Amino acid sequence: MGLYLSKKIKIYSPKISSKLVIYHDSDWHVGVNSDMKRMYQVQEEVERIQPDFRLISGDILDDAEVRNTKNGKEVLNLLKRSEEICPTIVSMGNHDNAHKVGQGELDWEYSFDPDWYRKIEEVTSSHLIKYNEIYEGNVWLDDQIEIVVMNPPYEHYFEKEEAKQDFLEYYQKKNLHFQTGKDHFHILVLHTPAVAPELVQDLPILKEADIVTSGHMHAGIVPPYVRPLMNVFKNHWGLRSPNNQLLWNAKYCWGKISKDDTDFIVNPGVTKIGPEKTGVLQQLNKVLPNESYCIEVHPEEKQKVLSR
Ligand SMILES: [Fe+2]
Repeated sequence: MGLYLSKKIKIYSPKISSKLVIYHDSDWHVGVNSDMKRMYQVQEEVERIQPDFRLISGDILDDAEVRNTKNGKEVLNLLKRSEEICPTIVSMGNHDNAHKVGQGELDWEYSFDPDWYRKIEEVTSSHLIKYNEIYEGNVWLDDQIEIVVMNPPYEHYFEKEEAKQDFLEYYQKKNLHFQTGKDHFHILVLHTPAVAPELVQDLPILKEADIVTSGHMHAGIVPPYVRPLMNVFKNHWGLRSPNNQLLWNAKYCWGKISKDDTDFIVNPGVTKIGPEKTGVLQQLNKVLPNESYCIEVHPEEKQKVLSR
């Protein structure tokens, strides 16, 4: 079964009246031949914790072809089981809509598949509004909390520098906002942390969010027992960052990074590397523990927040 790490992250907010527990996981990377044990282990953890919400930050599948296989059915079954415990909200990752078109590392084609998303919507609390051809929008609203999912297309992940401007123009045109005012606790769910404030300055929805949950980085491929040693500059760095920087310039790779009034949470992921990889990388996947976050939001008096 392997090791399991469920790390607690504490956040304080005057916007909620009682403690809120959010289970946050990402990057299952289920392949056609993947052993599903790790994913069932995550489900058992959700059943043990009984959170108020579960947020899954994308890359559930390693390859879009998995949708029509036995493991694709198991994925839907697991999401259904999760929804029986708590509202479960899913964002799309690049791999969920990726088709392998060759043997090379970069031989992928990306397209958003509405049919797969519709199946996920049927079994979870994800309800997305369609903007143009991309599904994203408000998904959850009650009298204290609003959750929005963003699914930027892969060309906007700006692993290339020139994609950054396109991304800003794309989202400014979309004019994506939280519907509620500052009295609500705002959660933004997405896959790539590439929208973090040091990387993108002018995205209004980021300023409106209290927490932003993401994945995609696989903790910068750094094992959990090495991360505290690497993190000497408190930037949560890894080997490679969402904007393609390396080592100490590779920020936002894992953990909670607080900036102004927003907490960015970058999930290390259930798998560290795609399951269909071979050799050393596949072995690394077996050795590294299953990781997810249990985010506790505690109510806090306004006055206390101001004096912090
Ligand atoms: Fe990803």
